[in-house]
Amino acid sequence: MNIGLIGSGGREHALCQKLSESRLVDKIFCFPGNAGTQIIANNVKADILNFDLILKLIRFYKIDIVIVGPEEPLVRGIVDFLKKNKVKVFGPNKFASKLEGSKSFVKNICKKNNIPTADFKVCRNKQDLKIFLKKSKFPIVAKADGLAAGKGVTICNTKQQLFKVSEEIFKGKFQTSKKIVVEEFLSGDELSYFLIVDKDNFRFFGSAQDHKKVREKDRGPNTGGMGAYSPSPLLNEKLEKKIIDRIVKPTLNALKKHNNFYTGFLYVGLMIKNGEPYLIEYNVRMGDPECQVIIPRLKSDLVRIFKDTINNNLKKTKIIWKKEKSMTIVLCSKGYPGNYKKNIKIKNLKSIKIDKNMRIYHAGTKLQNGHIISIGGRVLNITSIGKNFFEIRKKIIKILKKLNWKSGFYRKDIGWRIKK
Ligand code: AMP
Ligand code: GLY
Repeated sequence: MNIGLIGSGGREHALCQKLSESRLVDKIFCFPGNAGTQIIANNVKADILNFDLILKLIRFYKIDIVIVGPEEPLVRGIVDFLKKNKVKVFGPNKFASKLEGSKSFVKNICKKNNIPTADFKVCRNKQDLKIFLKKSKFPIVAKADGLAAGKGVTICNTKQQLFKVSEEIFKGKFQTSKKIVVEEFLSGDELSYFLIVDKDNFRFFGSAQDHKKVREKDRGPNTGGMGAYSPSPLLNEKLEKKIIDRIVKPTLNALKKHNNFYTGFLYVGLMIKNGEPYLIEYNVRMGDPECQVIIPRLKSDLVRIFKDTINNNLKKTKIIWKKEKSMTIVLCSKGYPGNYKKNIKIKNLKSIKIDKNMRIYHAGTKLQNGHIISIGGRVLNITSIGKNFFEIRKKIIKILKKLNWKSGFYRKDIGWRIKK
């Protein structure tokens, strides 16, 4: 079977690596992939938002199933487009992708279905904000309604800050929407909970904890994610039941009422307070870097899982997890998430030796004349499974020290909140 994989991050390299281990695979084509995927699959240059071009390439390379990694093509309707053209594709359609593409859409579903989440108001102007302020205390969280490449959320401590952030969004800072969702600040512990979903069923697909802030002890600006570990020690059977009954099922049923189905990965972003789950957000894809810690823990054949999901056969598919824990540390270009230099050689990468429990997943890299060159803010994900998070972290940092990439930096404290 030939597989098409859309995306170019660490998430896609992790998926690609796992897919390549399946006996069901003949060839994998990555649109456009990175240096890591190029070594194990075939990279094909393509703009992933040019759906006509993607369709042509799918037909040219005789691709049997397509897996969509990132949110933007999903939110813009790549699944509807490919299905209409008789291509088998894994991922939610345009309507269901509003779970990530529109914060107001999700909040309204929560309100109608009593799903626990922060109190909120959808605002179109300053007047709306003032109404919300009358009944709320700071900090207040301001969120751009549409996709904002991880830059749409600000925790505001003062009225001035809230008005400034909102004004920019009302004026169109993010092209996807001029609306803003303001909501109460939730305290507690964050948990990323993942599911794989077909028309009739859903199955657990791992839990993880991301580290979004750029600096140690969770300080500084937000990033795409500086590191993660899996499983999350927060999750237990009782909590999971609450997440499923109070949040997941009512959401999937609400979509069904609109005569729509959710299929694909579902990323449930939660705040856990005194053992109670609150929905922070949905993403309609795997997390990045969460995927890089969940996939190494998967024992079962990923191709079969995707195939079964596409054929609405998820109920029967085998999804077995390793007992080991997993962690990844992201090596970034100095300056990220602000400005950083590109096109810098990562000299020592080829000479690094890792054991069978480790993986180095590429993100912003390309191959040029046999050299691996950085082209993004997040560059590599050094990942390992093992028995103990502290030991795993030590092992990863040892590799990062050996790599000694002078243009990069990383957080040395991934997992700092773990107590045991
Ligand atoms: P989002 O893009 O909605 O995931 O928000 C990004 C990050 O902002 C989350 O991972 C949380 O750390 C934080 N955040 C979002 N909403 C809230 C909230 N209501 N209360 C506290 N923190 C929040
Ligand atoms: N790691 C956060 C995200 O994928 O959105």
